[in-house]
Amino acid sequence: MVQRTLKYYYQKARKEGWALPQFNFSCAEQLQGIVQAAVRLKAPLLVGTSEGDSGFLGKAQAVALVGAHRKETKIPIYLNFDHGKSLESVKEAIEAGYDAVHFDGSSYSFKESVGITKRVVALARKRRISVVEGEFAEIPGKHSTFHKGKAPKLGKDSFTDPKEANEFVEKTGVDSLAVLIGTVHGMYAENPRLDIERLREIKKHATCFMVLHGGSGTPPRDLLRAVKTGVVKVNISTELRGAFINTLRATLKEMPNEITPYKILPKSVEAVQKVAEHHLQFLGSANKI
Ligand code: G3H
Ligand code: ZN
Repeated sequence: MVQRTLKYYYQKARKEGWALPQFNFSCAEQLQGIVQAAVRLKAPLLVGTSEGDSGFLGKAQAVALVGAHRKETKIPIYLNFDHGKSLESVKEAIEAGYDAVHFDGSSYSFKESVGITKRVVALARKRRISVVEGEFAEIPGKHSTFHKGKAPKLGKDSFTDPKEANEFVEKTGVDSLAVLIGTVHGMYAENPRLDIERLREIKKHATCFMVLHGGSGTPPRDLLRAVKTGVVKVNISTELRGAFINTLRATLKEMPNEITPYKILPKSVEAVQKVAEHHLQFLGSANKI
């Protein structure tokens, strides 16, 4: 069964004003819960593995698992390689059969990031990769300072500059861009303030799909404002990890003598499904197949 491309759903989402959550997973059970949510809500599904997720699970294994679910459920499921940190690791993901890749250039200078991203795009175009996502780190003031592993400062000067976004997209040919307008990875100590005006400017200047990272814990009303301003993808990882592991801890407490994984893990699968259903619903991708 040949499924539509991920880009088809990005276009549909942007036109109709909804977004695809990208759910990150690092084990079969997390993926099981996510897929169950998409089947139940008839939602096209985008899942992702970070370098760490796929380092643990394996890129080939992630592709095989997604392929098996796609075949069995008959729903469109896309696998994105999230935050690829080097050309080599992105190349491995492309060769393993990922549907989309994200090269995160935030540890390079702007110029180097453009150069490597261009090579990623060239590689991807040769294969059936329908979406390449780019990311250049926040440049407080001038480009070249990047957030070395720290969450982006929330000061306005560290947010994505619309004109630089355009320069980056023009020079690299990426399909989508991870924009930083106030969200950060992980949960928040206090609610982030999203710079929607800046998002509007980026949309005006840069011809690309816009992606929001750091979806976990971001107030739904803020995410929806970003989606209404053109964001087509919202990455979610921490909330899924929390649901899985915290439920596992509780289950192990309830069943201290149980050692059978298939008796211990279902509640964690269910907890992940609930989180995924919540995001599929409010971001609007339910019933969009
Ligand atoms: O790329 C992954 C996401 O940006 C994860 O962000 O853990 O805050 O949901 P999150
Ligand atoms: Zn991210």
